[in-house]
Amino acid sequence: MAVRIVIGAQWGDEGKGKVVDILSAESDYVVRYQGGANAGHTLKFDDTTIVLHLIPSGMFNGDSNCVIGNGVVVDPISLVDEIEEVEKLNVNLKNRLYISSSAHLILSYHKVLDKLKEERRGSDAIGTTGRGIGPAYVSKVSRVGIRMSDLLNEELLKEKIEKNLLDINSALKSVYREEPLSSSTIMEELKPVIEKITPFICNTTKLLHDALQQGKSVLLEGAQGSLLDVDHGTYPYVTSSSPTAGGACTGSGIPPTAITHAMGITKAYCTRVGNGPFPTELHDENGELLRKNGQEFGATTGRPRRCGWLDLVALNYAIRLNGMNEMTLTKLDVLDSFEEIKVCTGYRLDGQLTDDFPLDSDQVQRVIPVYKSFEGWQKTTRDISSFADLPEKAREYILFLEEFTGVRFNIISTGPKRTETILR
Ligand code: IMP
Repeated sequence: MAVRIVIGAQWGDEGKGKVVDILSAESDYVVRYQGGANAGHTLKFDDTTIVLHLIPSGMFNGDSNCVIGNGVVVDPISLVDEIEEVEKLNVNLKNRLYISSSAHLILSYHKVLDKLKEERRGSDAIGTTGRGIGPAYVSKVSRVGIRMSDLLNEELLKEKIEKNLLDINSALKSVYREEPLSSSTIMEELKPVIEKITPFICNTTKLLHDALQQGKSVLLEGAQGSLLDVDHGTYPYVTSSSPTAGGACTGSGIPPTAITHAMGITKAYCTRVGNGPFPTELHDENGELLRKNGQEFGATTGRPRRCGWLDLVALNYAIRLNGMNEMTLTKLDVLDSFEEIKVCTGYRLDGQLTDDFPLDSDQVQRVIPVYKSFEGWQKTTRDISSFADLPEKAREYILFLEEFTGVRFNIISTGPKRTETILR
């Protein structure tokens, strides 16, 4: 019985969707445990490309049950759009999709506040996805959140929304000089989606506990990445949830003692969307080439991603934070055309050499990366399905990563399709 967490080891967009899609063939349950529709997990198979934001990426390979856990914040309107997209592909969600009755809702006021707060931050803006994620987690922690279970009682739901609007409208009026929001408009928006969503709502904690008891295999699918974690990331330039391993337990109800594997996903280079420190960011033609070869544009917002060399100081920090005991390397093929490839093996902080990732973002901003250089292999790695068939210099690169991190890279991805994968 495997209970495996799949966690981004960087700033998100590591290619977790593809890995979860592959691993879900042998998983009974696939569970999203945090984040919301800020995530965009792109799946490519046969002639289909689909970007999932809320529904777990296990929906398309095999017949695993898919769970949206209590730790996720769900925009019900986005969810219904997504359910309809999936249904168009002739995938039946009935008795396969389960939504936690304790998952919190993102309502229109969260999205309005997300945008207004970002505008007010001016040059200190975080660069959020504008999906209402931060304000929804604020509601949750302030104990005024609306949960999935509230959709089952419309009268009570309206009452709760009205109460929340008292505070929100007063802030909209006096702080932001905006028009107030009305509970009836919000209820009107919700009505058509309530009917669609309610059949999927249940006690997913019990569902998962029963699954564990029956020895079923579970895959916990992280969104975003370790360096965007609200506690352990480059605060305040982070998301508002815990993508790291601990978040998988609180966001699903699965206890830490049940976890058997923690798989980290890292690209063969680094990207970041939004603002915040990024030590190995490239502002030259190499950065442009990474963006072009890797098609590095946000799956949720379409924003160009910032690109840079692989940062092993940050990666080792993510490995320690999550207890990662296996790794996947994605997008190796993006490096195929490079003459020279660099990886960061240390930082110089105020003149001192260190291999620790600083906890203070101002310090992360100041570090100067120390690089090790590799000769590029300059051959295509696409369609190679065995490690032994990779160009020698690509193997050397991967073996160095294993030696430096002390973790085996079990899966190597050489393209977006399922078939472009080396399983070692
Ligand atoms: P929020 O999660 O929308 O509040 O955005 C906070 C930060 O996390 C911003 O820098 C976003 O660009 C980043 N972010 C959120 N979701 C993702 C993701 O799925 N991939 C990469 N970055 C993300």
